[in-house]
Amino acid sequence: MQQVIYSNDINNTLEGLIANGDFNRVFVLTDTNTARVALPLLDLDGIIPITIPAGEENKNLDTVQAVWQALIDGGGTRQSLLVNLGGGMVTDLGGFAAATFKRGIRFVNCPTTLLCAVDAAVGGKTGIDHGGLKNEIGVFAEASHVIVSACFFATLPEAELRSGFAEVLKHAMLSSTDSFKTLLHTNIGNLSPNQWLDLLRQSIPVKQGIVAQDPTEQGLRRVLNLGHTVGHAFESLALQRGKPVPHGYAVAWGLVTETVLSRLEAGFDGMLLNDLALMVRDSFGSFNIT
Ligand SMILES: NC(=O)c1ccc[n+]([C@@H]2O[C@H](COP(=O)([O-])OP(=O)(O)OC[C@H]3O[C@@H](n4cnc5c(N)ncnc54)[C@H](O)[C@@H]3O)[C@@H](O)[C@H]2O)c1
Repeated sequence: MQQVIYSNDINNTLEGLIANGDFNRVFVLTDTNTARVALPLLDLDGIIPITIPAGEENKNLDTVQAVWQALIDGGGTRQSLLVNLGGGMVTDLGGFAAATFKRGIRFVNCPTTLLCAVDAAVGGKTGIDHGGLKNEIGVFAEASHVIVSACFFATLPEAELRSGFAEVLKHAMLSSTDSFKTLLHTNIGNLSPNQWLDLLRQSIPVKQGIVAQDPTEQGLRRVLNLGHTVGHAFESLALQRGKPVPHGYAVAWGLVTETVLSRLEAGFDGMLLNDLALMVRDSFGSFNIT
């Protein structure tokens, strides 16, 4: 069972995990951005860094092969640990590389984006893009631990923070009217690292609870697609028109659209829908690609 640890003291937490794990080598996978902004925050002896190029376009087999080779060159064995330090691109690809290297080595996810902390790092989906299709190749494999730490968020561009917040909003809609109402009035620009951790302590267990009931997405897990069906349509249309929008923004607009449908079909509370629409308009702007 995957353990999620909430801590803004990343060094002590990782040090403890490594000390208890009896590993012969500890590799830390970053992309070129997290090598610059997140790796320097780690103060650990003897780790072996592996850096891959940043960006979704590099979430592919060539990059996985480079990671496998770096593990081999660094003397990796089944007793080695891979720490994935990055956003969802790094945890998806690193998890896949770890799950397939020597039939599987242990790995820990240290998400450095909000989206990754609240979504990608947790739940055991790993993989890469292939043939123009997202996440076409992959396996279900859980990181032994996910260390959620808001100490990485200080360097995140605001658009990335907002993108992740759409998933936080989604989790609240799936679980608790009170949390949802609170989030509608939360100013994410003002949250301290400890306040972020408090917020994530409420949000991440929503995904964990759903995944625990349906780990390989046979049914229930699809509720996590709330906002995404319409959101993907917004994303594709914007891309087609040459004006790409951040994924989380499309999800936020998707949440509003799907909630309108829910209002029409199932009587979703009109005032709440109104508050959601206003919040999304103010925080994410409007979908405008003309
Ligand atoms: N496995 C799952 O369940 C799951 C769920 C949702 C999304 N995903 C995947 O996650 C990916 C999207 O996640 P993402 O938005 O984290 O993407 P990402 O990893 O590409 O990160 C976005 C950008 O932010 C940079 N970055 C990362 N941390 C930073 C920091 N602390 N400061 C400054 N810059 C930083 C990255 O280098 C990158 O340029 C997609 O590949 C998607 O398919 C997977």
